[in-house]
Amino acid sequence: MSAEPLIAAPISVQPEAAADAEEVAALIDAAFGPGRLAKTAERVREASSPVCGLVVREGGRVVGSVRLCRIAVGGEPALFLGPIAVDAAARGGGLGAALVEAALRCAGTEGVAGVLLVGDLPYFSRFGFDVLQDARMPGPVDPRRLLWRSSTGMAPTGDVVGVRD
Ligand SMILES: CC(C)(COP(=O)(O)OP(=O)(O)OC[C@H]1O[C@@H](n2cnc3c(N)ncnc32)[C@H](O)[C@@H]1OP(=O)(O)O)[C@@H](O)C(=O)NCCC(=O)NCCS
Repeated sequence: MSAEPLIAAPISVQPEAAADAEEVAALIDAAFGPGRLAKTAERVREASSPVCGLVVREGGRVVGSVRLCRIAVGGEPALFLGPIAVDAAARGGGLGAALVEAALRCAGTEGVAGVLLVGDLPYFSRFGFDVLQDARMPGPVDPRRLLWRSSTGMAPTGDVVGVRD
């Protein structure tokens, strides 16, 4: 009888390298489709400096990716999480959670008021995100999908703007 491993191999989240850019772009395109660049979230990212990019590799291939960039919400320093994407064949194995948790650790070193994203509350609530009321993105966004995880207990209100270092 072959013994099953009792503990799954830990997921290794690594910094995104410059050489990963093409694979990450393909992963994001596959996850979000060709319309992704037209989305409001992309307007925020275009105006922002990147803060950290993280990937998960399997067999030398990038199968998961997340990025954070610098923003302000109502003048409060914050980070914008996204896009986050996991290869369709690799979903459900905890890669998404490992990427979010690693991104939040990175955010924790940046001294910001919190992390904002556009996503599904049923997924992101497990990481401490909740709907942010009264924040204005620079274009249309379903308000139920504008989510905030506070580092300080405060929920900022006002305009969401990209920030360059
Ligand atoms: C969202 C995403 C990153 C999750 O990656 P993953 O590696 O499958 O995540 P995990 O393995 O950590 O979690 C899987 C669990 O989350 C659930 N889940 C995944 N997406 C969900 C969503 N949008 N809403 C609610 N639950 C969701 C799965 O059903 C699964 O539940 P289970 O643990 O009860 O079986 C991945 O599904 C993806 O790339 N989706 C397309 C892009 C996207 O929607 N990105 C997020 C918006 S910014």
